[in-house]
Amino acid sequence: MFNENALQGQHILVTGASSGIGRAAAIAMASCGARLCLSARDAARLDETLQALAGSGHYCVPAELDGSDHIVELIQKTAQLHGPFSGMFHAAGISMLRPAKLSKEKQFDEIYASSVKSAMALARAASLRGVMEDGSAIVMMSSVAATRGQAGMALYSSAKAAIEGLVRSLAVEFAPRRIRVNAIAAGAVETAMHAQLTHTLGEQSLSAYEQKHLLGFGTVDDIASAVIYLMAESGRWMTGTSLSVDGGYSVR
Ligand SMILES: NC(=O)c1ccc[n+]([C@@H]2O[C@H](COP(=O)([O-])OP(=O)(O)OC[C@H]3O[C@@H](n4cnc5c(N)ncnc54)[C@H](OP(=O)(O)O)[C@@H]3O)[C@@H](O)[C@H]2O)c1
Repeated sequence: MFNENALQGQHILVTGASSGIGRAAAIAMASCGARLCLSARDAARLDETLQALAGSGHYCVPAELDGSDHIVELIQKTAQLHGPFSGMFHAAGISMLRPAKLSKEKQFDEIYASSVKSAMALARAASLRGVMEDGSAIVMMSSVAATRGQAGMALYSSAKAAIEGLVRSLAVEFAPRRIRVNAIAAGAVETAMHAQLTHTLGEQSLSAYEQKHLLGFGTVDDIASAVIYLMAESGRWMTGTSLSVDGGYSVR
């Protein structure tokens, strides 16, 4: 869909690269000429992504992401070893569907560490000398849940709303270096996370949920295309926004 040179010469960190949207975006970005640093916790599944990439020079950095200094240092060391990044795509995250009364501190910490705190660790690393090139791009996964209420989604929704707030302020802070920062607010995309959320739904409820998306459920490639658009020269005038890629979910 995109020119095979759309990301030529770019060095892009992809979190959540062992599965779903992160993996699909990595495969698509490599086919557009990018050199990738793949990160997630599961080294074996990361390696499966690595084997699927076109081009050369890609590598894996397995890590449990959170907002710790350790993660910031890991990203800095990676940039020292492999060269500064020209892009970061933050797809790591976990889903959570549970009522408030069952949402304990542990779940709060899990969801915020993998999504929000780690997003801030990427930003902290990007602000260090030699980690991120001027004129580069950061893209973070948000969700329609950031702006829509649903029972059982308080933790997940608030984490995604936090991502969108973070993106707006980082866009202002990084603009002097021409580093663009954007989010993608995705509707339901068929991945392992989606399956985990929907496996308990009966046929009728699943169909009603799908129909809320005017164009049906999305595929990982629908999101990968948006990631490339924002990463590449095509997104050069986009910053501080949350791009809806949701099959029409949020129009009503
Ligand atoms: N699928 C949807 O319908 C949908 C809709 C809107 C937004 N999103 C967002 O899109 C992103 C990707 O979702 P997906 O559907 O592709 O989910 P997925 O298939 O479950 O993938 C999630 C990825 O995040 C990684 N991850 C989770 N916790 C981590 C941690 N603490 N440290 C490091 N890596 C971690 C997982 O790898 P390991 O297990 O190997 O660590 C995996 O690679 C998420 O941020 C999600 O909230 C998804």
